[in-house]
Amino acid sequence: MVNIKEEIAKRIAAQASDLTLEQIMQILEIPQDQKMGDYAFPCFRLAKIYHKAPPLIAKDIAEKLQDDPMFEKVEQVNAYMNMFLDKEKVAEIALQAALDKEHYGKSEEGKGKTIVIDFSSPNIAKPFHIGHIRTTVIGNSIYKIYDALGYNVVRTNHLGDYGTQFGKMICAYRHWGNDEDIERDPIKTLLSYYTKFHVEAEKDPELNEEARKTFYKLEHGGEDEIRIWKWFSDLSLREFNKVYDMMGIEFDAYDGESMYSDMMPGVIQELKDKGLLQESQGANVVDLSDYDLPPALITKSDGTSLYCTRDLATAEYRKDHYDFYKNIYVVASQQTLYFKQLFKVLELMGYDWAKDCVHVPFGMVALEEGTLSTRKGRVVFLEDVLNKAVEKTKEIIKEKNPNADPDSIAEVAKEVGIGAVMFNELSNSRIKDYVFKWDQVLNFDGETGPYVQYTHARCASVLRKAGEDMVKKALSEPVKSKYLTGDAAYELIKLLYQYPSVVQDAADKYEPSIVTRHIIDIAQAYNKFYHDEHILVEDEDEKTAKLALTAAAKNAIANGLALLGVKAPERM
Ligand code: ARG
Repeated sequence: MVNIKEEIAKRIAAQASDLTLEQIMQILEIPQDQKMGDYAFPCFRLAKIYHKAPPLIAKDIAEKLQDDPMFEKVEQVNAYMNMFLDKEKVAEIALQAALDKEHYGKSEEGKGKTIVIDFSSPNIAKPFHIGHIRTTVIGNSIYKIYDALGYNVVRTNHLGDYGTQFGKMICAYRHWGNDEDIERDPIKTLLSYYTKFHVEAEKDPELNEEARKTFYKLEHGGEDEIRIWKWFSDLSLREFNKVYDMMGIEFDAYDGESMYSDMMPGVIQELKDKGLLQESQGANVVDLSDYDLPPALITKSDGTSLYCTRDLATAEYRKDHYDFYKNIYVVASQQTLYFKQLFKVLELMGYDWAKDCVHVPFGMVALEEGTLSTRKGRVVFLEDVLNKAVEKTKEIIKEKNPNADPDSIAEVAKEVGIGAVMFNELSNSRIKDYVFKWDQVLNFDGETGPYVQYTHARCASVLRKAGEDMVKKALSEPVKSKYLTGDAAYELIKLLYQYPSVVQDAADKYEPSIVTRHIIDIAQAYNKFYHDEHILVEDEDEKTAKLALTAAAKNAIANGLALLGVKAPERM
């Protein structure tokens, strides 16, 4: 796609040869107010070079660029040169890109580079709750964004299937377990045992000791412990997969923490050999006080490994196995300090690729009654949230179209209901904390997923109404952009032009909400265009131009929603 900013910079460079193209690119601004043009060039920095007042320089360059077909007009205002682009030209550039749906917003910058992304990674035998939605949905979107930029992305689910909590779970099962209950509703049943364990352990601290021993056995090949643990794992994964299926999320690897347990002795030995391991109250740690970080815990006093030890092995494994260009962890901001420690230890181990490890944090979800707490049984199940959203969508659709066919209602309700929850999750900058409110998740008005999906369906409906032949014509002929210069059309066209750079920006910042915001803007701009102007007019040239713009907006919304993992229905 033609890079408009660069084109402008080239033209200015031809007039102000003392500045490099890069310098000019940096100085160029996009004014807040459209009245000041599409781009502005402040001339302060040229004053020294030309020994002239900035306004005079601005005036001078403006005059020289006046007749360039790229611009409708160029004005000098104080020290600024304000440039108004030729709208038809911008329309041509933007539409050409947007109508090529397969390549629009995509690139090959990542060709030959592998990115590992660790996301979702729930803990086995624990509920898959509303707190997990963030890593799951944000991680999936970051995967889609990098995939669109041509990277080879490996999605890995670092299941929390190891650690002392399994000692507790197995103990609880042995004391109070009932196999039938577990098979019927595994997660909720196991959760109730886990909750009970904590209540009982407060009265009888012996239980904790028993749990510790049980985990020790699990880690050292105890047959019965391994059998029970494996059973819990399989049941849990089955439940998690139900939710992943609902959201259309897949993984390339489910390499949980337990997979690395064999590698523990090697890692511990390596840390010893490299002189990094220190004893502290019977435990082994890596001292990080030189870096203002708390010590990293490697083994407990009884020799059992810890979360961090397993993550060290995991990182090494990923480097060996995938030779990653980046190794991304989408994990809550509570673990920010932990990841600093982890990456520092890798660096001290002499791995220069430690710098390619990235923690992508996100804020907390709280409930109106207070924080989520698995131990206290205060959880909102993700599956329930998704099901409720689908149910509510069904009701809305039935209300609006009493005669609609139930099968198609079910299908659309799934796309819209689940899409609404996922979109909502990706609307705000990821680092913000928020309080989960049913009302808000189930609110489909305003800047929501259903609104954007509805706009997509509206575009589809306009194209259907125009008829196949007319659409074919609109897409095969050069766009008659002189019909697309009204305010509403031009606003939309500018947004369509920006879309690919928005995707790039979202990738650079690991921030899907940048895409979300932009497609909301596009949907709003299209709806304004739809209300302000007649699309299916008599004049065929005008009609095809407007249909091309409609198809372009539809592509932008569909491609944008796809990056969020949200479906774009043709009808709603
Ligand atoms: N299971 C962990 C949790 O729920 C998240 C794991 C994140 N990934 C990692 N490699 N540490 O907190």
